[in-house]
Formats: sequence, C-alpha cells, structure tokens
Amino acid sequence: EPKIIRNKHEMRNWSRSMRSQGKTIGLVPTMGYLHQGHLSLITEAKKHTQLIVVSIYVNPGQFAINEDLSTYPSDFNGDIQKLKSIPNGVDVVFNPKNLYDYGVEREEKQPGVRKMGEIVSCLEDEGGHETWIRVEGLEKGMCGKSRPVFFRGVATVVAKLFNVIEPDVAVFGKKDYQQWRIIQRMVRDLDFAVKVIGSELVREEDGLAMSSRNVHLSPQEREQALSISRSLFEAKSAAKKGKNICSELRQSVIESIEAAGGKIDYVEIVDQESLETVFELKNGVVVCVAAWFGKVRLIDNMEIS
Ligand code: PAJ
Repeated sequence: EPKIIRNKHEMRNWSRSMRSQGKTIGLVPTMGYLHQGHLSLITEAKKHTQLIVVSIYVNPGQFAINEDLSTYPSDFNGDIQKLKSIPNGVDVVFNPKNLYDYGVEREEKQPGVRKMGEIVSCLEDEGGHETWIRVEGLEKGMCGKSRPVFFRGVATVVAKLFNVIEPDVAVFGKKDYQQWRIIQRMVRDLDFAVKVIGSELVREEDGLAMSSRNVHLSPQEREQALSISRSLFEAKSAAKKGKNICSELRQSVIESIEAAGGKIDYVEIVDQESLETVFELKNGVVVCVAAWFGKVRLIDNMEIS
C-alpha cells in the first residue's frame, strides 16, 4: 500500500528522513494513466534503490495552449490499483495538486509580461513562475520543433521534482528518447546528484508503443497506427541487410505511415547521443518518428546499433 503524498514540503520531509536513515530513493516521474511501460520503469528502478517514489503530475508547464492538456487521460484510483499489483510495491505516490504554488498571493496577474505572439504554456500564471531550464541544443530538433515549449517545461518540472524528492536514481523511458537525452544532459550540466537511467521501450503485443494517449485512438486509427512500429522494424531489418543510405530508409518509413493514413510530423535518423542527423548509417543511431492519427499525436523510435 503506497503512501500518498500531496504536498511538496511533506514529500521533502519524507525523503530527508529516509535519507538520514541511510535509505536510497528511486524516482519514476509520470503523468499518470499508468500502463505496462510505466510499470517497467518501476521494475527497473527497484534494481537500483531501496525505496521507490512514483510521481503522478500532469504538468501544465509542458503543454502549449493549443495542446491536449484538458483531454489528457487520468485515472488516479486505477493507477493506485496498478501500483499495488507490483511485488513489494512502491513506497510513495507523489501527487501534488500544483507544483507551481509558492505560497505567495500575487496581487495582480500579469499575462501582459509576455510579448505578443510568444508561445505560452498552460501554466495559468506564468508570471508567478518565470524560471525555465532550456537544454539548448538537444531541445531544438524533432519534438522540440513542433512543440516549442515542451522540453523547457519537462526539464523544469523534472528539476523541481529532483529538488523536492532528492532521489538517488531517476528512471526515464526510451520511448521518449529525446526527453531522456535532455534530462541526462541537464543532470550533467547542472550537477544534479541523480543517476539517470534509460529504460527500454515497451510495446503492445502487436507492436504499438504503449502510451497513455493510445486510449484516444479509434479502433481504425489504432489499426493504422501500427504502421509506425511496422515501418520501424522494417527499417531496422533493412539496415541489418546492409541498406545504409539514411534518406532511403527514412523515405520508406514516411511512405508506409502515410499509406496507412497517418500524417507525419517528423521522421529523423539521428545519432543516439547528440541527436544530430546522420546521413550514412553507422553504429549507434536511432530512427525517431512522430505522426498524427486523427487528433492523436504518437511518437515511437527504434535504435539501430
Ligand atoms: P509520461 O508520458 O507519463 O511518461 C512517464 C515515463 O514513462 C517517461 O519516462 C516515459 O518515457 C515512460 N514511458 C511512457 N511510455 C513508455 C513505454 N511504452 N515504454 C517505456 N517507457 C515509457 O514523460 C512524461 O510523462 C512527462 O514528460 C514527465 C517526464 C513525467 C515530466 O512531466
């Protein structure tokens, strides 16, 4: 039975008290609506630390105003049931109501502080919080291109979670490949005392990458969306057979997804560490995809080593 903590001061007190008893703490940050992909991160975290904290927080700071914050799925009770099913379980579920509450009343909201046309996040009072972490190089491409405030919101909320929870280890899924690399880089560059672990992407039996957003797919869209993983597996086997021209591999991924009815956001073949575009296939690349099926934007990737 995990302890549910909703207040960041209480969270920090719990962590500090555990640490003073010599316990190590692993953190798995999530936005809830948990599935096997999330649970696999917990299993991974349990290999590294004695105690496990799972955070469930839908972070308004990483959604732009035109994105799906208001329809992001949630099922807190269902999540707790799933967490209870894990053998010798999770110690704490950290579920803050508002991580951006600094306990000060602001006399007047200042939406006007932002320049006209500047993209803002769904954080209601952005003027009440104005410090953002940007991982300038890694956040530029791929998801950062179509979601300009996304990674600053992710890096910032993860930094906040690290400061509140002070974990020894934090586990991120390679499903969100660019996110994982960005967090690794932030931790290195800002000397966070947290070991970041990347955990394998978990798929449904038919290949679809697990995602909380999959519930929004109609049965037909879900069927069409299988083209993403199928084309990625095909790219991998073509690469194994010696096809090494990235533009051709990329083109066939694009064509398969479009033929199935998907709308491509991007398909990129990049270096696994620098996330820079690779032109001729080499060891250590990853094919990254984002595509729309109806109103749902899905991402997936395949490492080729
Ligand atoms: P969320 O999408 O809930 O994902 C939480 C964690 O689960 C991330 O590290 C993500 O990469 C991992 N994950 C999701 N689907 C996975 C899958 N199929 N296989 C393996 N891992 C998977 O990512 C976020 O939340 C947020 O951006 C967050 C990091 C919590 C910051 O708000």
